[in-house]
Amino acid sequence: MIDRPLQLPGGARLKNRIVKSAMSEALADARNDPTEGMIALYKRWGQSGAALLITGNTPVDRDHLEHAANVVLDERSDPEKTRRLAAAARSGGALALVQIAHSGRQTPEAINARPLSISDKALDLPGYGTPRMASEDELQAVIGRFAMAARLAQKAGFDGVEVHGAHGYLLSSALSPRINTRKDRWGGSLTNRSRLLREVIRAVRAASGTDFVVAAKLNSSDFQKGGFTHEESIETARMLEREGVDFLEISGGTFETPVAYQHTAQKQSTAQKQSTAAREAYFLDYARDIKKALGIPVMVTGGFRSAAVMRQALAEGATDLIGMGRPFILDPAFPRKLLAGDIAATPAPERGFPPAEALPRGAVLNWFCHQLALQSTRGKADPDLPIIEGHDRYLDRIASSTAGLLAARAAAPC
Ligand SMILES: Cc1cc2nc3c(=O)[nH]c(=O)nc-3n(C[C@H](O)[C@H](O)[C@H](O)COP(=O)(O)O)c2cc1C
Repeated sequence: MIDRPLQLPGGARLKNRIVKSAMSEALADARNDPTEGMIALYKRWGQSGAALLITGNTPVDRDHLEHAANVVLDERSDPEKTRRLAAAARSGGALALVQIAHSGRQTPEAINARPLSISDKALDLPGYGTPRMASEDELQAVIGRFAMAARLAQKAGFDGVEVHGAHGYLLSSALSPRINTRKDRWGGSLTNRSRLLREVIRAVRAASGTDFVVAAKLNSSDFQKGGFTHEESIETARMLEREGVDFLEISGGTFETPVAYQHTAQKQSTAQKQSTAAREAYFLDYARDIKKALGIPVMVTGGFRSAAVMRQALAEGATDLIGMGRPFILDPAFPRKLLAGDIAATPAPERGFPPAEALPRGAVLNWFCHQLALQSTRGKADPDLPIIEGHDRYLDRIASSTAGLLAARAAAPC
């Protein structure tokens, strides 16, 4: 079943069920345009055999980056470099979407000490500033920026966009009653808390027309006390279907509850209640509930590694698309091998790492970010690199990108 094509509601055709999920590349230059290394990596991913590639987090506002080396899509982006990125990603027959995002309160303090957010509730982590509650006009401007980014992606030749409504960024934080404490039409009931995400999707669709794929990434839950719940996620998914999204990608968590990229098995008590498939693909049971409520295709991302589990998840109707991230970093050619039956599972070096509690915060993610940079600079990963070394090298690189960005901005203010 993995090799069966899928037609999206808007007519776009995916040649099989394997999707490269969004992974923040940290490969942009100091003007936040794609570098040659990034374009070359997308060419390899484009020829991987996957049906669809989703780019990493691409902010629609350069004052609200996720980190200094994000590619930004706005009126100052280089159209030629964006066009070349789209062409590279599509060069092997895969469709390509840009993941458009606004970092909100998860914008690092070095980039913006007073980021715009849905409320003034600060992130419970060091390195982030004190957010400002956005006014009605500022929210309308954010919606307009998402629409502009979608138009620019379309003009560059991308097949569509994925609106990032997960992981605690602005649109996801608006969904959370814990963070969204507003008393106006953007806060309170789920209808109000989902308004920003829904209006962004509506504006993106209006700006790009029906031929363009518009997808959304949504948390199955924030996994946070008082946060966006699984029941609310199902209800929100129904609302997004009514807004005309082509498919919904299911993930989970926020910066404060980083469960999107787990690498160790669930605790035994939970694990015993789960099927083999759900133990590997840790959002599968949540996605199954969401899929039951919808008519549009669902994609689940998180943990898929073995062809047997992918086949089982598709056969059971728990998902329509198999999203994967980290395996594409270790082996950008794995989908072809998996589809041909040459391998039974993707690489999974994370399984050998100590549990997250025994590591510095973000170490596993940062190790993979460093491996992604190695793929772009020297064309291969270094799976034997010790985890702390990869973590440190990424932190050094992002510190240097931040210094470069701030220097470029000081020399030529926005
Ligand atoms: C290096 C790295 C960067 C990521 N960046 C993003 C991102 O920009 N946007 C996003 O929605 N998810 C991001 N993720 C999460 C992945 O899309 C995916 O949900 C997660 O890695 C779980 O899938 P996997 O187990 O197949 O890796 C990132 C993950 C990694 C490892």
